[in-house]
Amino acid sequence: MIHPIVKLGDPVLEKPAATVTAFDDQLKKLVEDMFESMYAAHGVGLAAPQIGVSKRIAVIDVTFKEDPGAKLVLINPEIVSKEGRQRGTEGCLSIPEFREEVTRAKIVTVRAQDVKGKFFEHTGEDLLARAFLHETDHLNGKLYISHVSALKRDLIKRKIKKLVKAGEW
Ligand code: NI
Repeated sequence: MIHPIVKLGDPVLEKPAATVTAFDDQLKKLVEDMFESMYAAHGVGLAAPQIGVSKRIAVIDVTFKEDPGAKLVLINPEIVSKEGRQRGTEGCLSIPEFREEVTRAKIVTVRAQDVKGKFFEHTGEDLLARAFLHETDHLNGKLYISHVSALKRDLIKRKIKKLVKAGEW
C-alpha cells in the first residue's frame, strides 16, 4: 500500500522515533509499504516518520530498483563509524522541490536489525553513506536542512510558509 509522504511542518518529522521491539508480520508489511511508497515518490531512501509512523525503521535503495540486492532495511539503526568527507547536493521527499549542498562523511558503517530482528553491520560509501546518515537523522527527528546554514534554512522555511499559505504544500 502506498502511503502519502508527510511534509516539513508535521511534528512527526521532528521528534525521535520509537525503538522497534516486535519483529512480526505487521513489521514486514510496513517495510513493504515503505518500499512501495518510496518508489512511488521516486526516492532512494525513506524513514517511517515520513509516512507518519514514529518508529525506527528506514528503507534504502540507492540503485532505484536497478539492483534488487541493493535494497536495504534498517531497523533501530545506529551509526558506528564515519570516515572522510564528501560534498554533494541533498534532497528529501518531505521537503520536495528543494535541494541544498550538505557535507557528510564519505564512508559510514551502520549497525541495525533486519526484519527478523537479527543484528548486522553494513558499510556504505558516497551516496549510500549519505543515505545512512540522512535516514538515521530522520529517526532522531532531524532533517537535512539542520546541516545547512541558518540563512539558507530560514530562506527555505520562508518559501515553504508562502507555499502553505497558497495551499501548495
Ligand atoms: Ni529525507
